[in-house]
Amino acid sequence: MSTAQHLRNVPIFSDLKDSDLEIIAEKMISRTYEKGQMILLEESQGETFFIITSGAVKVTRLSDDGREVILAILGESDFFGEMSLLDGEGRSANIVANENAEVLTLSRSDFLNCLETYPKIAISLLEELAIRLRKSDQHIESLSLSDSEHRIAITLIRFAQELGTIKNGEVRIKNLPFQQDIANMAGTSRETVSRTLKILEDKKLLLKDGKDLIIYNFDEFRQLFS
Ligand code: CMP
Repeated sequence: MSTAQHLRNVPIFSDLKDSDLEIIAEKMISRTYEKGQMILLEESQGETFFIITSGAVKVTRLSDDGREVILAILGESDFFGEMSLLDGEGRSANIVANENAEVLTLSRSDFLNCLETYPKIAISLLEELAIRLRKSDQHIESLSLSDSEHRIAITLIRFAQELGTIKNGEVRIKNLPFQQDIANMAGTSRETVSRTLKILEDKKLLLKDGKDLIIYNFDEFRQLFS
């Protein structure tokens, strides 16, 4: 697939004419990263904007006691690296390849030029940032819940939305992140995550299938815990 064809599938570029996509595509460089490779380091200077064309990355920060906390998982057609280009501060988080990943990159000046030249890109970017802010708000709210089963379920809903594929109301989360990652996100211990997954499995709400997790009825699951 050509770079311009990749861009056509990316929501923030999807409203552009083919001729404009070609112009932007010429400025992009493709890069590949292996699973586990660090792509961006928190606080480093931001010079580049990224679009994922295949694979997935995790957005992480280190807590005060050194635990890695996942803020989000981004997949195909998602972007990252825009924040430090917009506010001039250092990178707000680490980005690590969650699986082998291919990206397209744009330099800071080309990214800022794109926003000025094509307001449709700027509006789509703001829409996506609003979605991310809503998710963060929900996450902060969920951390105030005293009940750990609830916090874990909300973390699973987040992973289902970011990593899952839905078919007939059933969601499959491929390669569910480690129980320790879920625990760090939900503000609980790995043991509690293990116990809670078992309880939810006994209630026939979900199933662990190898490295995957299946939520049988995603709508019902969301209603129970949101
Ligand atoms: P930047 O700060 O340049 O580098 C780290 C990137 O992680 C950041 O831009 C965003 O693209 C991304 N990022 C930071 N926080 C979140 C979040 N809560 N959800 C999704 N992506 C994020």
